[in-house]
Amino acid sequence: MPGRAVGHDQDVDVHESLLDAVGGTPLIRLNRITEGLAAQVWVKVEFTNPGGSVKDRAALSMVREAERLGDLRPGGVIVEGSSGNTGVGLAMVAAQCGYQAVVVVPNTIAREKIALLKAYGARVVPTESKVPREHPEHVNVMARRIAGETPGGWYANQYDNPANPRIHELTTGPEIWEQTGGRVTHLVAGVGTGGTISGTGRYLKQHGVTVVGVDPESSAYAGGDGSPYFVESVGHYVHPATVDDAWPESYDQGVVDRFERIPDRESLTVTRRLAREEGLLVGGSAGTAVAGALRVAAELGPDDVVVAVLPDSGRNYLSKYFDDEWMAHLGFLDAAEGPFVRDVVTTRGLAVAHPGHTVGAVAEQDAALVAVVTARASDAPTRSSPEVLGAVVPEELRRLVRDDPERAGDDVADHASGPPAAVGAGENLADARARIDGDTPVLVLVDGRAVALVPRAELEQGPRPIG
Ligand SMILES: Cc1ncc(COP(=O)(O)O)c(C=O)c1O
Repeated sequence: MPGRAVGHDQDVDVHESLLDAVGGTPLIRLNRITEGLAAQVWVKVEFTNPGGSVKDRAALSMVREAERLGDLRPGGVIVEGSSGNTGVGLAMVAAQCGYQAVVVVPNTIAREKIALLKAYGARVVPTESKVPREHPEHVNVMARRIAGETPGGWYANQYDNPANPRIHELTTGPEIWEQTGGRVTHLVAGVGTGGTISGTGRYLKQHGVTVVGVDPESSAYAGGDGSPYFVESVGHYVHPATVDDAWPESYDQGVVDRFERIPDRESLTVTRRLAREEGLLVGGSAGTAVAGALRVAAELGPDDVVVAVLPDSGRNYLSKYFDDEWMAHLGFLDAAEGPFVRDVVTTRGLAVAHPGHTVGAVAEQDAALVAVVTARASDAPTRSSPEVLGAVVPEELRRLVRDDPERAGDDVADHASGPPAAVGAGENLADARARIDGDTPVLVLVDGRAVALVPRAELEQGPRPIG
């Protein structure tokens, strides 16, 4: 179990196994990003675990418990659905303990992540990404099935495995209490499976610590509509076709005293500032946690100590949050120089239709272009860009219906183009023009959300004079 193991020989200080190096992570005081705040913000940096994330704790704990229960036997096969850190943690533990690891991953994950799992000797099984949680090809459904069909197979199931939160109650919580000398007053952490916040929070609450969850703004845990967001590995996305949305059993809602809901822009800004101002290269969910911690600390006094859990390293996200182009294309960052896309796009607002709407109805819409977007219970004025499935031109639909009235009953989705090209509102205009050619509809994004759908020609107008 996590902790310092020392060799028997008095002259050496050696871990008997890599697995003894899991846990015991440092706690670090933030100094610059916290300027002006009376309260302290200290961070628990989980990227120093040997597999690179907080998930090493849960992986080792779940394996040890399965061994104890006899669910995992020598030569057995560990199976999990994971797009990232838990897969790596399990692959690492499997390599050390002589098990085979099979990790089911959504087919959208970065090639580097697949390479990483394979480097540990894991077998990687890609499957469909955005499918409802009941779907046979959903990552977790596939993983459970493969475990059942494989001799010696065991499904780790971090979402519902009590060994996941328990290890945080046994290690992460006590470590924070001891490292702060009992001074911690607030714990801030994100919720993915909920293991970290539930276990750590449960322990620290016994000492009167307030537990604050942080959640991406549109995540369902803290009341969002479940639509997509861009910070990975935290929060709860809800596929629109989900019939029965269940939350993980690893997540004990009763532990969380309150939530801070953090928009992606705030998470990503803080993530980048941590690297540049504190020298702390961490992932986006760590940025979410620190953004929340800064909000919490702003309301507190000099005797308060806010501890935020930072789950993993920024090395996993160099081509995303730390890439200026990626940020600009999604509308999270302005290019160094204008004129910008927003200087010429005059149309604002999104006319929308949903799959299932008829061609006849959409043809009546008074708009040059209509975005076909996934239906959600609450219709927000802007839509997260992955929700835009396609585009239609009502004028073309009117022509279609005029020529063939029977088409009026068709599903509009069957007449839509694929997902449109997208530009960030703060992208340099010349760069955006060069990137997108042809006569195509273009989505304009602000903070990863579509604010307008315009013809490509709209990018060709010169910038309007200032004033
Ligand atoms: C980068 C990152 N952040 C946050 C989390 C959420 O932690 P938990 O699942 O313990 O709630 C995870 C979990 O996979 C993660 O990988």
